Amino acid sequence: MQRIAIYPGSFDPVTNGHLDIIKRGLKLFDKIIVTILINPSKTSLFNITERVEMLENSLQHFSGIEIDTYNGLLVDYAVQKNATGILRGMRAVSDFEYEFQMALMNRKLNRNVQTVFLMTGLRWIFTSSSIIKEAARFGGKINGMVPPIVNKKLKEKFATSPDRR
Ligand code: PNS
Repeated sequence: MQRIAIYPGSFDPVTNGHLDIIKRGLKLFDKIIVTILINPSKTSLFNITERVEMLENSLQHFSGIEIDTYNGLLVDYAVQKNATGILRGMRAVSDFEYEFQMALMNRKLNRNVQTVFLMTGLRWIFTSSSIIKEAARFGGKINGMVPPIVNKKLKEKFATSPDRR
């Protein structure tokens, strides 16, 4: 039986920290479905099509990966996909409360789907899509923190006045 995990997130945009989690997740699971889900508490910079395109480009050399989008409850999606795991990265104590709450809610909703946390690599502990977007918005160099396609897309987004977005 194939061990399938969903790696859910906003991926607005995908960062090298996400890629690190996927790479290491592939050592635990036969297949990882990287799924863009709606996070009701966030507004996004990139639309779904742009986010998919960046994921596809960044993951083109990975095998055992599927990229998808879903609008609904994560655990329902996991069942649809025959996934037994939800993969999440944990950076620091600040992530813990949110992740713990989400994992427990998902567990309450479906006890057959297990959330698996991987500690983010030390190199990526300070990166997040939000902080990277903030740096890029004001012209900060974000090389090495995101895949090249994301660097390019962020530059394009913020090419005009930073106040425009
Ligand atoms: O990258 P993010 O924004 O931290 O990811 C959060 C995400 C998208 C995984 C989470 O908001 C989510 O699972 N949304 C789908 C709705 C859902 O099932 N929520 C969790 C149970 S209430």
